[in-house]
Amino acid sequence: MKKLAKETEIVHGIHTVHHTSMDLVPPIHMTSTFKFKSADHGAGIFQGTEQGYVYTRISNPTVDLLQEKMAVLEHGQAAIATSSGMSAIASTALSLAKPGDNFVACSTIYGGTFAFFNKHLRDLSIEPRFLAPATCYAAQEIEKRIDSKTRFLYTETPSNPTLDIVDIELWAAIAGKHKIPLILDNTFASPYLQNPLLLGADIVIHSATKYLSGHGDIIGGIIVSSKDMIAHIKEAYVTHYGPIMSPFNAWLFLRGIKTLALRMEKHSDNALKIAQWLQQHPNIKRVYYPGLASHQGHATAARQMKKFGGMMAFEVKGGVEAGKKVMNTVELCTLAVSLGDCETLIQHPASMTHSTYTPEERKHAGITDGLIRLSVGIENADDIIADLNNALA
Ligand SMILES: Cc1ncc(COP(=O)(O)O)c(C=O)c1O
Repeated sequence: MKKLAKETEIVHGIHTVHHTSMDLVPPIHMTSTFKFKSADHGAGIFQGTEQGYVYTRISNPTVDLLQEKMAVLEHGQAAIATSSGMSAIASTALSLAKPGDNFVACSTIYGGTFAFFNKHLRDLSIEPRFLAPATCYAAQEIEKRIDSKTRFLYTETPSNPTLDIVDIELWAAIAGKHKIPLILDNTFASPYLQNPLLLGADIVIHSATKYLSGHGDIIGGIIVSSKDMIAHIKEAYVTHYGPIMSPFNAWLFLRGIKTLALRMEKHSDNALKIAQWLQQHPNIKRVYYPGLASHQGHATAARQMKKFGGMMAFEVKGGVEAGKKVMNTVELCTLAVSLGDCETLIQHPASMTHSTYTPEERKHAGITDGLIRLSVGIENADDIIADLNNALA
């Protein structure tokens, strides 16, 4: 068959029709264990000489479908679905680094990831070497932090919460030169807008909770990479620590992903319109959106992304107090963390998602106290603008 367009792959992905029951939508294999045909068959599956399923912590047909679909959409060879985005990050990091090792990461990342790196990995004597946003563009600054104990590079683009753009090809070239993997959290873009593996990244992570679900009802994570790397992460961590995804959640993710292209188009178009409107509003100090020509990473984002996504941030004139007033006054926008849902969500990183940073760490990461993050939904953009306009007034 000819190469399929992205929207078609998102709907079909892989052939999911069950050969005997012929369901259009695959069934949910809600079982913890699987029957063996005989003692020899069971022993053969364990030895790898027979094909078949054993136990859902190790693999499950419904979870396999999601993993195969995500490998197709991210142009990888294989994938692992996990219980959350954080368990995808933890499983990957802990399968690559041991006590005494270090890794290099941008400091502007999801607050939970920052806390995991800065507290939990440090407690295990795995040292994060953080880069301030401006230095994430400078190859020599990244390379300066790499030594013989550096096990991986880690970044997000666009970043949470300031929408910084990292040049994936630049980071991939540095990772390749030093023969270490580049891990890229692609949550904000989704596989519809950006495919880091095609730009040289080695491992892609998603908080599937966000755009892959799209409906704010489930938590999950995805890791996509080469067959060898996925086998390593599974064996070194996931199978034994057990942060796996339930078959029911995998089925819901498969359902959510079918509308990913439509949703990402609408999220992106709405966000661009709102960012352009906010930018000219007299009560707004600054807008952070990579779709604006004034954004530092605009040219890079235009090169590596299909559109600019549904996430943005802004600062209101009058600082934290004025920002709180906006968040307490909006009616259509929902005051809540998380992102990528159909509804527009608004929140305050310094006191919520990024309160895991000290004030000094937030300063280093360029996260100001007045910053407000908006996850633009798929409502009519004019209704969201009217709501913000009322709150800003
Ligand atoms: C960019 C990013 N990565 C990872 C995570 C963690 O994902 P989860 O909440 O699914 O564990 C989040 C959560 O907000 C996120 O925004």
